[in-house]
Amino acid sequence: MNICVFASGGGSNFNALLQAKKDGFLNSDFKLLITNNSHCGAVDIALANDIDYYHISKKVFPDLSESDFHKLYVDILDEYEIDLILLAGYMKMVDTIVIRKFKNRIINIHPALLPSFGGKGMYGMNVHKAVIESGAKESGITIHLVDEFYDKGKILLQKKLAVNEDDNEHTLQKRVLELEHKYYPQVVKQIETGELILE
Ligand code: GAR
Repeated sequence: MNICVFASGGGSNFNALLQAKKDGFLNSDFKLLITNNSHCGAVDIALANDIDYYHISKKVFPDLSESDFHKLYVDILDEYEIDLILLAGYMKMVDTIVIRKFKNRIINIHPALLPSFGGKGMYGMNVHKAVIESGAKESGITIHLVDEFYDKGKILLQKKLAVNEDDNEHTLQKRVLELEHKYYPQVVKQIETGELILE
């Protein structure tokens, strides 16, 4: 498969996926990074690995009409013949035109056990803070298909971990990221082998 990763942040999941490719665990080609934040760690990782990236935001393309701006995503994804999109800390709603064109071909990783701690505003550290403040005894990760409803697509995999009495959002984030780095490549592998069929 030709894969495009969408990321906005530090890019540790992007890095874990690339490492899985370097280790020979994954066969797919990581063709492209799309970001809405040109100063993020994910861009540095793309540069270090010789992967093309596009910074797509209204700031960069202020003169494009609304419809041409949306079409830009699709044109770039077509140019790179992308089969699968992996969201890895992409802090923006994916454009509807992309969701429709890549139906069941966009996967997101979320740092909690959906449907809990999901929805608007629930991303990155906000999620871990909310988990700690709620007093929940467990958290984990959810890997799911992306549809037009935020954090509501079909769940492909969940893994749990215990929230310890002395955890804060930072210690929890660290352990959740470890789970993410382990299982995101595994889900991609299952798609490659046909063990997991995306209808
Ligand atoms: C990850 O924990 C990912 O689950 C989360 O952002 C972090 C990105 O870390 N995604 C969301 O919250 C999406 N709702 P990374 O940039 O180091 O991969």
